[in-house]
Amino acid sequence: MPPRTPLVLRRIYPVAPRDLEQAGTVSTEVRRELLALGMSPNVVRRASVICFEGEMNIVLYSHGGRVILLVKEDRVELLFSDDGPGIADVELVSQPGYSTAPDWARELGFGAGLGINNMEQNSDLFEIRSRVGEGTVVRATILLGVPFF
Ligand SMILES: Nc1ncnc2c1ncn2[C@@H]1O[C@H](COP(=O)(O)OP(=O)(O)OP(=O)(O)O)[C@@H](O)[C@H]1O
Ligand SMILES: [Mg+2]
Repeated sequence: MPPRTPLVLRRIYPVAPRDLEQAGTVSTEVRRELLALGMSPNVVRRASVICFEGEMNIVLYSHGGRVILLVKEDRVELLFSDDGPGIADVELVSQPGYSTAPDWARELGFGAGLGINNMEQNSDLFEIRSRVGEGTVVRATILLGVPFF
């Protein structure tokens, strides 16, 4: 068993479904927390992008969920979990351009089908686990390279 990396920070942010008024506030908070820890602009930028896309997907497609920010000695982890409906074909929804965004979301500029791609490209480790009828968990990890703390 590899040694567990000690936790530096843990924050849990609830995300309400369809709540476009609040959409984006989690990524703003995450940015603020990481800047307060003195993280590099590059790490803060990547985490903000990942967080915004993950948060928006919970708002647009799920019954509600949460974002968990974990900062460890050597990594920043963002966990997006929701309470359904789940994703039947994770490979399909991960393809650039695939979107089931409703018209009202497209009118607001969402639905390019690039969010998951964007999350993956800004992560060092990226994983989606989903069960139809139960929910989805997305884990995005940014490795800090040289231990930060
Ligand atoms: N948490 C989720 N639960 C259920 N389905 C999801 C979830 N997140 C994403 N999806 C599905 O995956 C598709 C692709 O998501 P992705 O974020 O890549 O693009 P998008 O949200 O459609 O558009 P964009 O993010 O570019 O505005 C979504 O259209 C939706 O069908
Ligand atoms: Mg999206």
